[in-house]
Amino acid sequence: MRAAAVFGAGGGIGRALVAGLAASGDWSLVHAGARQPQADLPAGARAFAFDLADEASIADAVAGFDPLPDLTMVATGLLHDPARDIAPERSLRAISGGAMAQLFAANTIGPALIAKHLLPRLPRDRRVVFAVLSARVGSIGDNRLGGWHAYRASKAALNMLVANFAIELRRTHPLAIIAALHPGTVASALSAPFQSGVAPQQLFTPAAAAGHLLRVVAGLTPADSGGFFAWDGARLPW
Ligand SMILES: NC(=O)c1ccc[n+]([C@@H]2O[C@H](COP(=O)([O-])OP(=O)(O)OC[C@H]3O[C@@H](n4cnc5c(N)ncnc54)[C@H](OP(=O)(O)O)[C@@H]3O)[C@@H](O)[C@H]2O)c1
Repeated sequence: MRAAAVFGAGGGIGRALVAGLAASGDWSLVHAGARQPQADLPAGARAFAFDLADEASIADAVAGFDPLPDLTMVATGLLHDPARDIAPERSLRAISGGAMAQLFAANTIGPALIAKHLLPRLPRDRRVVFAVLSARVGSIGDNRLGGWHAYRASKAALNMLVANFAIELRRTHPLAIIAALHPGTVASALSAPFQSGVAPQQLFTPAAAAGHLLRVVAGLTPADSGGFFAWDGARLPW
């Protein structure tokens, strides 16, 4: 029995990943995790609850995986939240320590805690994939526009952790693949306020994005571990 897992199954891309994995026929079980356990999951998916801000909930979720996932997609993330006064900054003046701390908690620390509890338990004798959704704007080498200070920095830090975890796992799990992925611009709540300047052909539906991402992870080999990949499989600079 082979299982996959999606953390962030209630989000735009996460929900589509669960649907794509369940429909693929490749997985006998898809663990689908969200803050609010979901009632409307497709056949073959099983809900679990976790909150990135609550490490014990992540540890409990991982302990409950039976079987452990051969493929894990971390599809959580935070860019803006008017209710918490979080919005991408256009200038230094707009930086808020509180908002920045919340972005790092969601985009960097939360995925690191999932990795902490899950990676050491993964099988060592076969190919396993742990992929986190990052963002091209987290690439330091690709940064030409600036702005979005906290989001960019939190994703750049996430990319560093992916590189670090790949190095650490190489010794114990030589067949493991740890990767950061850029999904392209995807029509979801996260991108909704920022879609006006995006050409229609460059704005992917969540279902299309999930298809792209699952194709990319299917093609990765252990030699790719620690890398950062775009939706079309192209390697991105750190
Ligand atoms: N959409 C794009 O254009 C785009 C572009 C580049 C990168 N990305 C990345 O892709 C990923 C998915 O984005 P999306 O577009 O699907 O966004 P989304 O629809 O806003 O989904 C984000 C998910 O993260 C979850 N989340 C946030 N904080 C959490 C916490 N403390 N504990 C548990 N879950 C939490 C949300 O859960 P709730 O449902 O409970 O709020 C939601 O399910 C993100 O990492 C994002 O940075 C997206």
